[in-house]
Amino acid sequence: MNYLNPKQNFGLFIFIFSTLFCCSLNSFCQERTVYLDDLNLKIVKQGWGDYPKKNLSCVGNPIKLNKKIYNRGVGTHANTAFYIQLSGNAIKFETTIGIDDETEGKGSVIARFYGDNRLLYTTQTLKGGASPEKVIIDLNGISNFIISINDAYDDTSYDHVDLADAIFTMNDGQPELVARPKEEPYILTPSPSLSPQINSPRITAVRPGSPFIFRIPCTGERPIQFQLEGLPEGLTVTSEGIISGTITNREMRTYTVQITAINKHGKDQNHLHIVVGETLALTPPMGWNHWYTHYDRITSEIIKQSADMMVSSGMADVGYQYVSIDDCWANAEKHKDPMRVGPARDEQGNILPNKYFPDMKDLTDYIHSKGLRAGIYTSPGPQTCANFTGSYQHEEQDARQFAEWGFDFLKYDWCSYTNILPPNKIENLKKPYQEMGMILKKLDRDIVFNLCQYGMGQVWKWGKEVGGNCWRTAGDLGFELLQYHNVARRNATYWEYAGPGAWNDPDYLLLGYSGDASVMGEPKPCPLTPSEQYSYMSLWCLMASPLFYSGDMERLDDFTKNILCNPEVIEINQDPKGIQGKPIITNKEKSYEIWSKPLYDGSTAIGIFNLDEIEQNITVLWDELGLTETQKVHDLWRQQDLGVHTKSFSTSIPRHGVALLKLISE
Ligand code: GLA
Repeated sequence: MNYLNPKQNFGLFIFIFSTLFCCSLNSFCQERTVYLDDLNLKIVKQGWGDYPKKNLSCVGNPIKLNKKIYNRGVGTHANTAFYIQLSGNAIKFETTIGIDDETEGKGSVIARFYGDNRLLYTTQTLKGGASPEKVIIDLNGISNFIISINDAYDDTSYDHVDLADAIFTMNDGQPELVARPKEEPYILTPSPSLSPQINSPRITAVRPGSPFIFRIPCTGERPIQFQLEGLPEGLTVTSEGIISGTITNREMRTYTVQITAINKHGKDQNHLHIVVGETLALTPPMGWNHWYTHYDRITSEIIKQSADMMVSSGMADVGYQYVSIDDCWANAEKHKDPMRVGPARDEQGNILPNKYFPDMKDLTDYIHSKGLRAGIYTSPGPQTCANFTGSYQHEEQDARQFAEWGFDFLKYDWCSYTNILPPNKIENLKKPYQEMGMILKKLDRDIVFNLCQYGMGQVWKWGKEVGGNCWRTAGDLGFELLQYHNVARRNATYWEYAGPGAWNDPDYLLLGYSGDASVMGEPKPCPLTPSEQYSYMSLWCLMASPLFYSGDMERLDDFTKNILCNPEVIEINQDPKGIQGKPIITNKEKSYEIWSKPLYDGSTAIGIFNLDEIEQNITVLWDELGLTETQKVHDLWRQQDLGVHTKSFSTSIPRHGVALLKLISE
């Protein structure tokens, strides 16, 4: 007998069916767990050390968070991003995350978890010595999962992060750690127009009575005819727009030269201020330096070719000026290449270049013939950093020699001076620079003085006083290029010491192809993504940093040229007011930062930096930038007006990319 009515019958059927279905489904694909530490960690890039460690902290200790030891987990060092393919098969991810006890209270990070380009969860700022955070993330339906560990927007020191007991619960399949998807290069800088455009710098200095050389930075199809009005007596201009000579009047004053550049496509007019006075480098020096490409393989021929390419590539047309030799041009006592071994000095004590530099005067003449300026390098110590002859006890003789050879820029690198005076007192740190600064002032040639001592003794506070025009504020960027944003942030804190004639220098532009600093290697492509390279250049321009490209001139591809040679971006760097920009908003929750640089004409340049692992739309409020209600917005990378915006502006910015804007109050 059937005691159930048809409706109840149907209900029972559904119950039995679903129970059977679910049971069979469960036995078919049982939930299971997979440890993060069992995945291929070697594929993950991290901020320090080679790759994250299985079941150990990033320096190889047992994982220990708030006094508790964990047998399983992953130890890494910020900044790190794990890209994990789940293909919709995961249920959840859980971990206990914090800074390892081994840092003894130091370090701070924020971990962010993303699923399919959406932020799923952000931790608190995890600090050394504090309790770790237990994190459980629902991953149902997620295909691409990212765990990003950032430095909490300070720096990466002691950011030893452990993801203890990090486990995926899966329905099916296996999570897979994959490389970050490659970002293809994208060119934002429009090609220069065929008709002439006169670019920055629009101000340059010369000391009374010194020889002057300046190539008018002008884009447009050659031949261009240059007509100059108001050129001081003693100077002449060539058909290529190279102004040279010696101003006859030694009076300290400013000349405003009106320049008209004409070709068959059109004409442009602008001015150049020539300031006769005692301060050089009124805008940040721009040029190329051989170090990161040629190291101890540099020759006079390469320097000449680089000067050629500075012109042929168009770099000189947007303001690059100095062609600089770094270390390894003198002789060494020992070197693998016998051509670089020889006596330090001749009988009169004159410093001797090695065999690859047979005629220094001929070399600077060549550089000057292009309208460019020449840079050289030495150390106040007996040896340079790469163990070539230094200037110790020959400072004045060498400076005179450099002037006689025709150099216009000197990089003075501390190196072995440590063996003469320990760098433990400000007086010791200042001494060699003060001495050289005084020597250079007495010369009848202008030599821009570049202090290189890696920021010791807060050089930004006294670099100017000892006669410096720019000073490195940190160690060699080649060793920490991936940290470029942190290097910039640190350099920006010294902003008030910068100004015309005195610049904070966070080191070279390592774009294009450059060689690994740790092995003085052959040039390789820049490890930064295209968006990061835009950010790097934007930061250097906002900070009014010296702009010295140190990549391979021969492999200057279109993408790198677009980064290096955007005259509107460079104009921000070369702004005659010379205010160093700095970050004014760091939004940790949304992971972006806004930098600002007030400009000479009353407008403001801002950089909106997306520090997130995914593209995001960022809104800036004029109010929070201290700007008036209506702003005309101009995109500097694209050289495009974006219209008038009231109260705010929103834009979408790729992962680690930037929007570099000029804002003009309406
Ligand atoms: C130091 C400097 C570098 C470079 C090398 C040359 O490391 O910081 O910029 O000049 O010396 O040896």
